[in-house]
Amino acid sequence: MKKNKISKNWINKQKRDIYVRQSKIEGYRARSAYKLIEIDKKFKIFRGGMNVIDIGAAPGSWSQYASKVIKSGKIVSIDLKSMEKIKNTIQIKGDFTSNEVQNQIKSYLVKKSEVVMSDMAVNTTGIKNLDSIQTGELCKEALIFSKEVISKNGFFISKIFMGSTFNEIVALAKKIFREVKVFKPKSSRKDSKESFIICRNLRSSL
Ligand SMILES: C[S@@+](CC[C@H](N)C(=O)[O-])C[C@H]1O[C@@H](n2cnc3c(N)ncnc32)[C@H](O)[C@@H]1O
Repeated sequence: MKKNKISKNWINKQKRDIYVRQSKIEGYRARSAYKLIEIDKKFKIFRGGMNVIDIGAAPGSWSQYASKVIKSGKIVSIDLKSMEKIKNTIQIKGDFTSNEVQNQIKSYLVKKSEVVMSDMAVNTTGIKNLDSIQTGELCKEALIFSKEVISKNGFFISKIFMGSTFNEIVALAKKIFREVKVFKPKSSRKDSKESFIICRNLRSSL
């Protein structure tokens, strides 16, 4: 299919999409907010006063939702791109995989974080397997980082693609956390290989 035909299809799909319309009404910057809202509804994650790290946060709809529900808590949001301000949020612009950015995140934490969430995804190449491998690497990096910054009963949430790295990521998550679940929210497009991994309770041997 030609490139401009693909983008026309994408625009038409967006116009029909109820989550796109709802995000405009409710003031969320992206339809992705509804994926996190569904995850929260199912796993009962967010409470007032929590500290949250949001990795791959731009344009910011996950941080917007978290900011609303954690009230007096604090959020550190990280992305390669800059974001407009969100209440209770410290924003870091940079590459999460760099030591510099990871040290910067740690320097902002006054206590361990109750939630570490990552919706990071690479710019798609159109080669589905390559995209899923690269996004899988980002998920692994976030999982390993979470060991250092998450509280004992904290939650780790990450985008994960069904693909060649899926089993490897689930196995790594099970080494780090006692509870590991995979969930595809209704608001995640059916034709996307995206799902979410939700982990809880750090293993004490770490
Ligand atoms: C699907 S979007 C996130 C949407 C966001 N959760 C929201 O609700 O608005 C994925 C984001 O991951 C970011 N990203 C990809 N690789 C990254 C990296 N190495 N470090 C930081 N952010 C990264 C991209 O810049 C992009 O903004």
